[in-house]
Amino acid sequence: MRKGIILAGGKGKRLHPITKVISKQLVPVYDKPLIFYPLSILINLGIKDILVICVPEDVKIFKKLITPLKLNVKIRFATQKKPNGLPEAFKIGKNFISKYANVLILGDNIFYNKNLLEITKNAFNDEENATIFVKQVMKPKEFGVISFDKNKKINIDEKPKKPKSNLAITGLYFFPSDVSKKVKLLKPSKRGETEITDLIKIYASENRLNIVKLNKTIWLDTGTPDRLLFASNKIRNFKIKKRIIIGNLD
Ligand code: TTP
Repeated sequence: MRKGIILAGGKGKRLHPITKVISKQLVPVYDKPLIFYPLSILINLGIKDILVICVPEDVKIFKKLITPLKLNVKIRFATQKKPNGLPEAFKIGKNFISKYANVLILGDNIFYNKNLLEITKNAFNDEENATIFVKQVMKPKEFGVISFDKNKKINIDEKPKKPKSNLAITGLYFFPSDVSKKVKLLKPSKRGETEITDLIKIYASENRLNIVKLNKTIWLDTGTPDRLLFASNKIRNFKIKKRIIIGNLD
């Protein structure tokens, strides 16, 4: 069965004071709480078993929000006390991980592409390798960045001061079952967190990394007030001008 994790903890410091007392993932993006967007992605990808990881005090509120939706998918909850880094999702979700490709989506990422199922098909069918999705951005400094050197060797840099490309790693990842072993190898970075880019580097070093470029895909990261506002406007425009509802859970 296809399984997916939504990582919905974190401190949301860049959105303070909005997220001082509520989870970033509950903040409205146009007409819905943020978590509806990654949740709708997993459901649209045919995932029937979902693990939502959030801070302990938010479990009750996420349950209250999600359970009445009757989504016809199994939704479980697990907790992360401190934002120790994205790879911790696979430590917390150790018993949830399946032998198939395991999907991780960040709780503050919004994607829209009507062909997302097609785009992710190979990743779903690949039980050996990890897959990441990259997209060209204007400010790569703020993201994990992928570049290739002369010999086509992959470079991965977390928030580089001098980015070697403008290809950012988006918050949608597929990992094979051995990810639970690989996360144990990671050491916290200078930021005091384990980094998803270090996890991806392990797969790259083993020649087990697929990189898919997201063309014609909307990818919105909502971590700052400006990006949150941009995302709300974009989703509103899609609804009004194109009659497309992004993040629909009906
Ligand atoms: P970030 O935007 O990196 O972190 P944050 O949400 O705490 O915000 P800020 O940097 O402004 O303090 O996180 C990306 C997503 O991943 C977001 O949805 C929160 C989630 N997350 C966790 O659930 N646990 C973690 O340990 C981290 C680092 C992030």
